[in-house]
Amino acid sequence: MERITTTALAEQFIAEQIPALQQQIGSGKVLLALSGGVDSSVVAALLIRAVGKQLTCIHVNHGLMRKGESEQVIEVFEHQLGGNLIYVDATDRFLDKLAGVNDPEKKRKIIGGEFIEVFREEAAKLSGISFLGQGTIYPDILESDGIKAHHNVGGLPEDVHFELVEPLKFLFKDEVRMVGKALGLPDDMVYRQPFPGPGLGVRCVGAITRDRLAAVRESDAILREEFAKEGLDKKVWQYFTVVPDIKSTGIKDGKRSFEWPVVIRAINTKDAMQATIEEIDWPVLQRITNRIIHEVAGVNRVLYDLTPKPTGTIEWE
Ligand code: XMP
Repeated sequence: MERITTTALAEQFIAEQIPALQQQIGSGKVLLALSGGVDSSVVAALLIRAVGKQLTCIHVNHGLMRKGESEQVIEVFEHQLGGNLIYVDATDRFLDKLAGVNDPEKKRKIIGGEFIEVFREEAAKLSGISFLGQGTIYPDILESDGIKAHHNVGGLPEDVHFELVEPLKFLFKDEVRMVGKALGLPDDMVYRQPFPGPGLGVRCVGAITRDRLAAVRESDAILREEFAKEGLDKKVWQYFTVVPDIKSTGIKDGKRSFEWPVVIRAINTKDAMQATIEEIDWPVLQRITNRIIHEVAGVNRVLYDLTPKPTGTIEWE
C-alpha cells in the first residue's frame, strides 16, 4: 500500500475506506471508546462519515484529563460532526478509588480497571451492538512489546465479543494525522503530543488529591499555552508538568508559604525508549515560571527537569 504523504492520498484513503466500512458494518451498530487522542478521534470521524448514527462513541472522563480536553471531544464529535456521543463524567468514581494509593503501578491498574468497568456498564445499557471500533495503528501491531503494551493500560475488555473495526491498522502515526486533517479535525487534536492512558494521574505523583491534581492541570494548561505561543508545541515531542507530593517553604504576599513545586518536563525522542531534554530559552522559562507561581493555587516554586532518559523515565511515575 502506498504511504499517505499528501492530502490527496489522505482523501483517497478516506474515499476507499468509507465504502469498505459501510460494507463491513452494513446496518449494524458500532461502539467506540473515544478518548480524544489522535487515533480514536480519527477512527470516530471516519466512522461518523461512513455510518453516521450507527456509531455510538463513549467518552469516559476519568477526571485525569487535561484542561479543556473532554469539552473539546463533546464540541467536535457531538456539535460539529453530529455524532452519537455518550459522555460519562466518572471523575468522582476514579478519584475515590485512587484516594490514598501511592504505588504507581497500583494507580495504573485502578485507572485501567475502572475505565473498563465504566465502559462495560455504559455498553450494557445499549442494545444491538455488534461491532467495536478501535484506533489500532500499524506500530501497535509491529511493536506488541512496545510502550503501549509495556504499560498495559487503556485496553478494552478481552471478553467482549464484538467484531473489530480497525480502519487505521496499516497506518503509521503521521499518516493517521494526515487522514485526521483531511477529515477536518482541529489541528490541536490531530497534532497533539502523546498523552498517557492514566492521564494526569501519573503526573500527580503519589496519592492523588483533588487540589494537587488541579495544580497539575492548571500548570499544564499554562505550559501548553506558552509553548504554543513560541511554536515549541510543533518542535518538542512531549512536554508537561509534574507536581510531586512535597512542600517547601516560600514567601507569598509577605507571608511564609508552605506549598508544592511544579516540575516542567520537555523532552525529544524518536521512539520514547531514550529521550533528550529540549533547551528552552531562559526568558520563556522565566515567563512560564511567573505565570505558574502567580496563577496556580498551592504552588510556590517551579523547577526544570534536566534529566535525559535514561536515567529518568519520561513520566515521573
Ligand atoms: P516513560 O515514562 O516510560 O514513558 O519513559 C514513555 C512514553 O510512554 C508514555 N506512558 C504511557 N502511555 N499508558 C500510556 O498509554 C501509560 O501508563 C504510560 N506511562 C507512560 C509516556 O507519556 C511517554 O510518552
